[in-house]
Amino acid sequence: MNPNLQRRVQRYGWDKASEFYQDLWQVQLKPAHDLLLKTSDVRNGDNIIDIAAGTGLISFRLNEIAGANGSVMATDISDKMIEIGTNLCLTNTISNVRFERMDAEALNCEDDTYDLATCALGLMYFPEPDIALGEMFRVLKPTGKATVAVWGSRKNCGWAEIFPIVDARVNTDVCPMFFNLGEGNVLDYVFDKVGFKNIRSQKIKTTLQYSTDEEACDAAFIGGPVAMAYSRFDSKTKHEARLAYLESIKAYKTKVGYEIPGEFIVCSGTKN
Ligand SMILES: C[S@@+](CC[C@H](N)C(=O)[O-])C[C@H]1O[C@@H](n2cnc3c(N)ncnc32)[C@H](O)[C@@H]1O
Repeated sequence: MNPNLQRRVQRYGWDKASEFYQDLWQVQLKPAHDLLLKTSDVRNGDNIIDIAAGTGLISFRLNEIAGANGSVMATDISDKMIEIGTNLCLTNTISNVRFERMDAEALNCEDDTYDLATCALGLMYFPEPDIALGEMFRVLKPTGKATVAVWGSRKNCGWAEIFPIVDARVNTDVCPMFFNLGEGNVLDYVFDKVGFKNIRSQKIKTTLQYSTDEEACDAAFIGGPVAMAYSRFDSKTKHEARLAYLESIKAYKTKVGYEIPGEFIVCSGTKN
């Protein structure tokens, strides 16, 4: 897919998903967020940049650990995500987290500025993840560290059919390379390629729990990256896509809902 088109699909897709995202995904992503925070070794007073921050699920937790002397620059390509994050700062009178719209592949930041650069569940959506990691490298201080979480291997993520189901009903792929970074040692390889040292990857299994068909479908169709494509389907196509998705996850149906397997990889590296 043309990189500019992919950026637009992401930008406007996540605009659509933004109001549902946190409610539908906060609990499901917590294991990856917890491991990313633990791996980041945040210190009091750290200046942090959080890439593809969404509504700030990680940014606000980073800020709590960095404390009053620290700061978090939360960046995202979606205006609506930035708006929600900024409103959360205002509502909760948080002054040392700032949300700014930026493309992860072209950060509007000086070199050698941050102690820590994080990116939770964002790298899979960028046209060129190595350029984004190179940007994280560039803006880190010489003593800085980067930590990234991605979804793991396609075969270990039971919800993976959402992409072919939606792609079959639109003209372009929504997330053409989604699972690439989660396979084998690809993420370590990209960290190494952009110059990171002391690279360490950890893989964790997870389970996405949903109580009803509707909840499982809403998370997949309206709370995530396919939201824009789905919003343009007519009601018949929406219904068919939902049925196809439920069929694809039926192996994970339990007496009380769904338990869909998933996998996350958290990778970190230092600038020197
Ligand atoms: C699954 S959400 C993750 C949000 C947050 N990091 C979290 O863990 O809750 C993915 C985010 O990536 C953002 N995104 C996608 N492509 C991007 C790009 N090229 N540059 C910056 N952000 C991007 C989306 O707008 C969306 O908010």
